[in-house]
Amino acid sequence: MSRSGKVTVVGAGFYGSTTALRLAEYDIFETVVLTDILEGKPEGLALDMNQSRSIEGFETKIVGATTTAEGAGYEATANSEVVVITAGLPRKPGMSRMDLIGVNAGIVRSVAENIAKHSPNAVIIVVSNPLDEMTALTQLATSFPKNRVMGQAGMLDTARFTNFVAEELKVPVSSVKTLTLGSHGDTMVPVPSRCTVNGKPLTELLDSAKIESLVDRTRNGGAEVVALLKTGSAYYAPSAAAARMAKAVKEDSGEVMPVCAWVDGEYGINGVYLGVEAEIGKSGVRKVVESALTAGEVEALKAAAEAVRAKQADVKDL
Ligand code: LAC
Repeated sequence: MSRSGKVTVVGAGFYGSTTALRLAEYDIFETVVLTDILEGKPEGLALDMNQSRSIEGFETKIVGATTTAEGAGYEATANSEVVVITAGLPRKPGMSRMDLIGVNAGIVRSVAENIAKHSPNAVIIVVSNPLDEMTALTQLATSFPKNRVMGQAGMLDTARFTNFVAEELKVPVSSVKTLTLGSHGDTMVPVPSRCTVNGKPLTELLDSAKIESLVDRTRNGGAEVVALLKTGSAYYAPSAAAARMAKAVKEDSGEVMPVCAWVDGEYGINGVYLGVEAEIGKSGVRKVVESALTAGEVEALKAAAEAVRAKQADVKDL
């Protein structure tokens, strides 16, 4: 197997470290760099991960690097092809993702500036919350072309929706296709009209009240996990989603994935980062893919766009 290049994961919490390990296990990169401001933590995790290589059978080398907000340590990340930003605080029980905006904006801005300095050609995948706003802020802080900055949310929300539908109908997850668009928050737009089970429309298999309850559970999917964990938020499904996006970039796969991308004209929505389907490749978002939605779903997507637009305008001052 040929492997090449470098991917950096910023933040060695559960989300970041799980993402780094998944990326290493794909065995497609020469190097996975894991950074954190907690001295020794990324180095320790990298050492541990490297020691799993002979058991799991991958050769990718994991490098841990302690960094500072002033930019020390970022040399290790230089010339990354892809960077996943997980830096920032997770929610505590009862918090909304938006409650994190003040504290995480400062962290994400400094990370984004340091990354831009050392990896000016990278594609950046943001996962810090509130997701849509932190994605917009990263683009501002890096001045990267908008296609090279995207956020991870739709893959995760869609995977949650898929899991709930599969459990409800007692079918394999592989037979279920679902879709969620909009924000990674209260204005998330699960799209029942695009959901199928073995090719059959979901609307023929479940009544609308049941679908609505699964949609609701999906919208609150992150909070449900936070409430159970009590400290920290979800990371197994989130890291799977982020790692798959980074893989699609690395392999220039052209896969169509639900991601937080810059929307300018699609669905009649202009100039905002929003959860939509997009074709992913080496350049990041190759293009936003418009799908057939019902009039009600387009309205919900527009409402989501307006809700995040107002907040995204605020981030430049944070
Ligand atoms: C979640 C967080 C990671 O949805 O946004 O679990």
